[in-house]
Amino acid sequence: MTISPNIPVIAIDGPSASGKGSVAQRVAAALDFHYLDSGAIYRLLAYAAQLQEVAWSDAERLALIASHMHIKFAGNDVFLNQSLINDQIRSEHMGKGASEVAIHPQVRAALLHCQQQFKQSPGLVADGRDMGSVVFREAGLKIYLTAAVETRAQRRFQQLITRGDHADYAVILADLQQRDLRDQQRPTAPLTQLPDAMLVDTTEMNIQQAVDMIISTYKKTL
Ligand code: DC
Repeated sequence: MTISPNIPVIAIDGPSASGKGSVAQRVAAALDFHYLDSGAIYRLLAYAAQLQEVAWSDAERLALIASHMHIKFAGNDVFLNQSLINDQIRSEHMGKGASEVAIHPQVRAALLHCQQQFKQSPGLVADGRDMGSVVFREAGLKIYLTAAVETRAQRRFQQLITRGDHADYAVILADLQQRDLRDQQRPTAPLTQLPDAMLVDTTEMNIQQAVDMIISTYKKTL
């Protein structure tokens, strides 16, 4: 595997619970590309900070932790400094923590290179909030994947219930609205639909329809 400027990148950005992760993973599998879940990196930082009793507001110490994180993805498994970390970062609490640590410019700068390392041959599908605007500005295809907030809350609710977790629709909806605002209104690398990004709204669309739309658009760019 080699890093080269000619390696294709598909950047998929969008709000929480829009289905980006599932869509991006399927697109990557269909094209035989690598997949980067950049949200997992911010979640890992929130988790590592909590373990070390560093506040999610402490930008300097967070940036220091971020610069020493060794991250590896293997299928659905995530390793932080050689330890397997999975369910611990997938909670609503760590989603909130990720959104809080992500507001600090020092943290984002410390994690930039680590994310760019995932651009490997034969190609990359990267999902997050700033894949097309900052991390992979050069991406040949940029997607803004979203859905109505009520639909996203309903999907997250179903996901938690299916997993056997406690879930309260009203709380999930309020959390998502708060997270959207935090991600969209931060001064550094806010979540936004770029003028050159294609809008994919999955409110009335299932995952496979979104995947098919992205793959056919990608093939037209070749
Ligand atoms: O995609 P996710 O829900 O796992 O992301 C969790 C949080 O991490 C999200 O609310 C904001 C932050 N994040 C970010 O700021 N930039 C990214 N590229 C990915 C995630």
